[in-house]
Amino acid sequence: MSEQKEVDFGYKKVSAEEKTRLVREVFHSVAPNYDLMNDLMSMGIHRVWKFITVLLGNVRPDHCILDLAGGTGDLAGRFATQIGPQGEVVLGDINLAMLKVGRDKMIDAGLQERVKTVTLNAEALPFAKNKFDLLTIGFGLRNVTNKMSALKEMWRVLKPGGQAMILEFSTPTSATVKKVYDAYSFKILPKLGERVAKDRESYQYLAESIRNHPAQETLKDMVLSAGFDECEYHNFSAGIVALHRCFKY
Ligand SMILES: C[S@@+](CC[C@H](N)C(=O)[O-])C[C@H]1O[C@@H](n2cnc3c(N)ncnc32)[C@H](O)[C@@H]1O
Repeated sequence: MSEQKEVDFGYKKVSAEEKTRLVREVFHSVAPNYDLMNDLMSMGIHRVWKFITVLLGNVRPDHCILDLAGGTGDLAGRFATQIGPQGEVVLGDINLAMLKVGRDKMIDAGLQERVKTVTLNAEALPFAKNKFDLLTIGFGLRNVTNKMSALKEMWRVLKPGGQAMILEFSTPTSATVKKVYDAYSFKILPKLGERVAKDRESYQYLAESIRNHPAQETLKDMVLSAGFDECEYHNFSAGIVALHRCFKY
């Protein structure tokens, strides 16, 4: 029996192929309202989490950067303003609808020459080994069917001396925050999705997928077993989100 036979899609158990298809459907459906919903759901705080991530990326003008599962390009766009003519940003995602929104945003911001858009699966990256100085995956790993394959691929395409950053929902560090956050995620979030994006199921999946995602220490162990030499994490907003900084020597 294959290890990938049944995987989590939110609280449902489905085949690996089915999960990849369902995740594709979720992001196809949310793409037009994705940025608006991010601002509404997090009350704008996702911008702070992303700002800190970019800051800790220590971008240099000649850096070659991959924003994996980059969706509508929030991180890619921020990186693009920091590189020079020798640098490059690749915005990679499995979902064309998300990438189209991202591409339009880059054009509107005049950044289209600096950001290359690539359709890809994080589990099998179409790049040579040791290509990127910096790699980010923001709120993406949770949705990938085989997370270990994605982590191994991230390690493979990262240059020695480079950094991969995983920004993802995580496990709250305080029981009180967890209680309030659970009530918000399961009672308010799906309603917000229904009202604004006319899509309750996708936001129910969001809440469930967050609960299934490995907690801080477990993800750190996974990162190290994927081949990275060092991993440290920072909790944001009492652990609602964590940033794992992964280093390859
Ligand atoms: C929640 S969005 C995050 C978008 C963006 N990084 C951000 O922080 O706003 C998750 C993204 O992961 C993408 N995704 C899911 N599975 C993927 C995979 N196997 N390979 C690449 N992208 C994937 C989805 O298409 C979606 O655009």
